[in-house]
Amino acid sequence: MAETNDYIVIKADEDGVNVIGLTRGTDTRFHHSEKLDKNEMMIAQFTEHTSAIKIRGKATLQTAHGEMSNNQ
Ligand code: TRP
Repeated sequence: MAETNDYIVIKADEDGVNVIGLTRGTDTRFHHSEKLDKNEMMIAQFTEHTSAIKIRGKATLQTAHGEMSNNQ
């Protein structure tokens, strides 16, 4: 099973950051887009429906792989 219990934490470092969920399976497409304004946060998981998450905009992430940001 590709799912885990891990959560990822996303903090927007500017207005209008998009957190986009991409579908699991042979067809990889956007299924959900969430817009965060500066300092808004989202906690998300990879699920049966979501195999990848695309983040557009400046944000800081915490995952099991560490903390990273694209805001410098
Ligand atoms: N209904 C989606 C799902 O269960 C909700 C979701 C979970 C989601 N993780 C996400 C949406 C990450 C966007 C990004 O898969």
